[in-house]
Amino acid sequence: MKTIIQKVNQTDLENVSFSEAEKLLKNGELVAFPTETVYGLGGNALDETAAKKIYAAKGRPSDNPLIVHIASVDALNVLANDVPEAAYQLADVFWPGPLTMILNKSKIVPYGTTGGLDTVAIRMPSHPVAKRLIAESGVYIAAPSANLSGRPSPTTAQHVIEDMDGRIAMIIDGGSAQIGLESTIVDLTQDKPMILRPGFITMEKLKEVLPEIGIDPAVVSKKMNKNIVAKAPGMKYRHYAPKGELTIFEGTMDKVIATINQMAKEKVEQNLSVGILATDETKDKYPYGVVKSIGSRNEEQEIAAHLFGILRDFDTIGVSYILSESFEDNSLSQAIMNRLLKAAGYQVVQCD
Ligand code: TXA
Ligand code: MG
Repeated sequence: MKTIIQKVNQTDLENVSFSEAEKLLKNGELVAFPTETVYGLGGNALDETAAKKIYAAKGRPSDNPLIVHIASVDALNVLANDVPEAAYQLADVFWPGPLTMILNKSKIVPYGTTGGLDTVAIRMPSHPVAKRLIAESGVYIAAPSANLSGRPSPTTAQHVIEDMDGRIAMIIDGGSAQIGLESTIVDLTQDKPMILRPGFITMEKLKEVLPEIGIDPAVVSKKMNKNIVAKAPGMKYRHYAPKGELTIFEGTMDKVIATINQMAKEKVEQNLSVGILATDETKDKYPYGVVKSIGSRNEEQEIAAHLFGILRDFDTIGVSYILSESFEDNSLSQAIMNRLLKAAGYQVVQCD
């Protein structure tokens, strides 16, 4: 299939037409589009055949459900049953934006979209291109991240082209995704609201609206713990993985740097290629390997925005090993560490 690439001029968005993309979506075809978190691989959420195409294009297991993207809060009552008051409270504060809610699905949402579950994930994105596509097409858009299953999520159209060219009908290039990490997922189908995936909307921010909110034990676990069953089916798969073997180093900064250097030296002496994921504060302290800074430690938003891109950069360079510093485990860094740990298959070296 020849993939159409539509480049969008951000500064003149009102005058851009999305009619071709909208026609494709209405006809059950797939269109990748930018959102404020990562690029999405969109298809009609109410069309089981379109959902099947999404799984096929991604090479994704079909028990891993899709998020349905909407453009107006009214859609909640169309797609979900027994919508609790908490959903409207969260929508009021965080929508449109990087928050996904799990609710009981209504009849019209096919099991092909929810991976066979009786619940449905719903999000109202804030990116102007995403908003217009949904509103103007009149299609509720099911969209996972637009990467091949197992690859880091795409934060630029170039990343989507790498993974999806020839596999889908169209890619809309709307520049870099601003946040760079996927949405926060909150499950509202249990007695107590629970965070299933941390993201840009942090625990602290959610607590201001729902003080009773908790976090799924699988999210905070530092290990791939077989006894803890992840509530979001996607969280059980190895994810975001770069091709090089990624290891995270934890401990005081000095010890981390020394341990990474020692390991990098050994690998380089064995003629193995090494990438080092460093920060602005530390990047000059690594004499071995390809050193890349993810940003300043004082700017968690910058680190979040660069994480998936830097993992892909190491793939492009073709390093066999990636040695990474670690980050705090609170606020936005909780989401950063969650993605990094998953990318590393929970391979962590303690340096103290
Ligand atoms: O920011 C985002 O959420 C991006 C953009 C494109 O909107 N989308 C995204 O989709 O990250 P995806 O498919 O890569 O991740 C969806 C996650 C998976 O971990 C999936 O298991 C979980 O949401 N999920 C979807 N429906 C669910 C449900 N009914 N119950 C529990 N988890 C669900
Ligand atoms: Mg994904």
